[in-house]
Amino acid sequence: MAQASILVVDDASAVRENLSELLTEEGYEVDISADGTAALQLLQERAYDLVLTDLSMPGVDGMGVLSYLVNHFPETGCIIITGYGTIQNAVNAMRLGAYDYLCKPVESQELLVVVARALEHQRLRQENILLKKQLRKKFGFDNIIGASEPMCQVFDIIRKVADTDSTVLILGESGTGKELVARAIHYNGYRRGNPLIPVNCGAIPEDLLESELFGHERGAFTHAIRTRIGRFEQAHGGTIFLDEIGDMSPNLQVKILRVLQDHQFERIGGNKTLKVNIRVIAATNRDLQELVQNGRFREDLFYRLNVIPIRIPPLRERRADIPILVDHFIQDFSKKKKKPTPRLTPAAMSRLESYAWPGNVRELENLMERMVILSESEVIDVKDLPERFQLTSQETLRFNLEIPAGGLPLQKIVSDFERQLIIKALDQAGWVKNQAAQLLHLNRTTLVEKIKKQKITRASN
Ligand SMILES: Nc1ncnc2c1ncn2[C@@H]1O[C@H](COP(=O)(O)OP(=O)(O)OP(=O)(O)O)[C@@H](O)[C@H]1O
Ligand SMILES: [Mg+2]
Repeated sequence: MAQASILVVDDASAVRENLSELLTEEGYEVDISADGTAALQLLQERAYDLVLTDLSMPGVDGMGVLSYLVNHFPETGCIIITGYGTIQNAVNAMRLGAYDYLCKPVESQELLVVVARALEHQRLRQENILLKKQLRKKFGFDNIIGASEPMCQVFDIIRKVADTDSTVLILGESGTGKELVARAIHYNGYRRGNPLIPVNCGAIPEDLLESELFGHERGAFTHAIRTRIGRFEQAHGGTIFLDEIGDMSPNLQVKILRVLQDHQFERIGGNKTLKVNIRVIAATNRDLQELVQNGRFREDLFYRLNVIPIRIPPLRERRADIPILVDHFIQDFSKKKKKPTPRLTPAAMSRLESYAWPGNVRELENLMERMVILSESEVIDVKDLPERFQLTSQETLRFNLEIPAGGLPLQKIVSDFERQLIIKALDQAGWVKNQAAQLLHLNRTTLVEKIKKQKITRASN
């Protein structure tokens, strides 16, 4: 691996020299800078893997250096060096995106450990970003964000079926991305040069839907003043996307079945049989099997559609996708609205990660748009999130109480939850244990015991 490059920024020359010497001896490539302004200059000239910066400096201070890094070079890590008097500022710096902080006088062993960990963290992050870019390029699903196991399976099926003519049935709750998946299938298949024609079977009244799908001849009914080409004809050579298929009337279900079987139909009022070359993709947020059992959906049509089912899991079943979706939408909306890109604090992100998302990705997308438009600072914290993310202690207990089919390890979850609350309280109290204990309605000794048991250290926050 290439030598990691580190920039040390401190107005105290003794600290600067001492750190530089230590890090150089360890094999890092080190540059030094006596103030923030000079540091920004250097940062523009070359890329660093890591910046170690003092907090209080004349001119551009450590916070200035950090926010410059976060906004311009997010791939560069940052560690804050601080005196004991400014620990609260260091905590704020971590909220803004610093990896960690070190207290003066900096202890050599601790420095080397924290630096090595920060570099490893940065390396994994860079690798992750690169990998995601490569994956998306390779499979061409540029606009479908997801890295969770269930979404990788979805990508896998898309890749396998895109270039075939097989009928695909996309199942998933509202807002999970069914339409996006339908588009990915069409545009990654050989029919991509021909149209993808969507029909929303739920939104169009039955009598209109029939002529919408099959077209009509002039004079077929009172208002048919001219011949109309239906969606099936428009899709010739391409794909028809039958969205909300579960809402289609029984009468139309029969007619559709015939087109699916032999690709033939007549326009309403016409006697010429038309033959089309189409691929069919259908989607629904309803439970089709249940509709079949209740006699509301034809069984033969169900089997005809259910050749390749793709189930898109709700967002709450793939929480690993939440942070990357958040990043994606925040960046996207900031660019579109020409606003600076705000950052979420870890606490705010953790609220988003544990929320149930009944509206799935659409709900998250709308929330991020709102956050970008309304946010007045660079940082979005829990208090900036809407009401439903603000939990009082009682709500916390009700919060996201879902037991998955496979069960869950109660003790581990309770212990993780306790750990999160303790870290949160310490963070809020600037790591003053007395204050943190008060926030948690504990006495100090109990809190200290819990901190020890949970092996919580400042660096683990
Ligand atoms: N994995 C994803 N990556 C990026 N954007 C997504 C993803 N999934 C959904 N979206 C976005 O969320 C919104 C809802 O997606 P889409 O319309 O495809 O959902 P749907 O399942 O068809 O919902 P409905 O059942 O309500 O029609 C869209 O704006 C879409 O771009
Ligand atoms: Mg849809």
